[in-house]
Amino acid sequence: MRQSYTYVANLMSDFPTRFREAVGAGAALVQAPGTSDSVHAFARSVAAGLSDEPKWLHYRFLYDAEGSRLFEEITRQPEYYPTRTEAKILAKHAGEIKDVTGQVTLVELGSGYSVKTEYLLSAYSRDEEPVRYVPVDVSDSALRAASRSIAETFSDVEFTGINGTYRSAFPVLRQLSPQVLIFLGSSIGNFNDAEATSFWRSVADHLPAGNFFLLGVDLVKDVDVLEAAYNDAAGVTARFTKNYFARINGELGAALDLSQIEHSATWNPVLERMEIYARFHADQQLYVEPLDQTFDISAGERILIEVSRKYRLPKLQREFTAFGFDLRRVFTDEKKWYALLLLERIDDTLLRASYPSPTR
Ligand SMILES: C[S@@+](CC[C@H](N)C(=O)[O-])C[C@H]1O[C@@H](n2cnc3c(N)ncnc32)[C@H](O)[C@@H]1O
Repeated sequence: MRQSYTYVANLMSDFPTRFREAVGAGAALVQAPGTSDSVHAFARSVAAGLSDEPKWLHYRFLYDAEGSRLFEEITRQPEYYPTRTEAKILAKHAGEIKDVTGQVTLVELGSGYSVKTEYLLSAYSRDEEPVRYVPVDVSDSALRAASRSIAETFSDVEFTGINGTYRSAFPVLRQLSPQVLIFLGSSIGNFNDAEATSFWRSVADHLPAGNFFLLGVDLVKDVDVLEAAYNDAAGVTARFTKNYFARINGELGAALDLSQIEHSATWNPVLERMEIYARFHADQQLYVEPLDQTFDISAGERILIEVSRKYRLPKLQREFTAFGFDLRRVFTDEKKWYALLLLERIDDTLLRASYPSPTR
């Protein structure tokens, strides 16, 4: 299949139609409408988080080209067990996952460089059956790298990436049915409670009955293992955190002294999540040029830039069951550190009105 880096510059709202046309034209990458990480979207997000008390920044903007590259480097650190563990589970069970779902389209949210997905692509393209793969990511550079690497390895994968947010992809899910929607890396753990509820509701609203959802989740475990994973000895995660502020300097016209900003990642036992902060060692002013606004940050202040919630399966099961998903398989590793869940969307038309609502 001929593929080109055709950007479908779509500023209109009819993305499903545009997407169908892009697939028909063999586009390798489609820009979702209004969701690219424009400087203004970044500026507004930074201003919202810094106007709040305590201050926060949205984790989505960690992933510019350098952030995506650094995340890949994090996944290779000896302390960072989630990627290795999930990869082993996928290597062992990709064939069984395909046996359950049958030959379907693979759609992946937050696909990054799609490294682990290659286990699934191998299983789904076995016997030379072509498989459509639709990765979705805000990082244009990660999608391009994935497209190149998959084209080199697989001749029978039809790749159409969506450069946009998770949310931007939901309206096209119906036309990609039958499918397995893939969400790896425990990225669901980056949501706060309200975002998680809203995410489940969106997936339930857009994924037709009979379609599958393959979800990777990191489980609650020993605090030392968790804290080591997010404070690797080589300092790659610290560079990932600092890169957020380098991006703010580069794109928003700030002039922060990065040497006075320190990465800190700690376990919150009450909320059962890792919390990643940037701690400021000196008073600094953060100027957001596109909005002409300045924010004061005090010495000693911590800004929350990412959370990574860890899961207990019974509680998670109550959550997805409430949104109309059935558990078809659960795969874990020997230490029970990580789980890969294969869910099936059931027909619950009559129950929709009773889905939980976000609390804020
Ligand atoms: C933690 S990485 C996981 C990458 C890969 N799935 C893995 O398991 O290694 C999260 C990925 O999701 C992307 N991402 C973060 N927030 C996003 C959003 N709101 N919409 C779409 N992609 C997002 C990032 O660019 C990044 O590639």
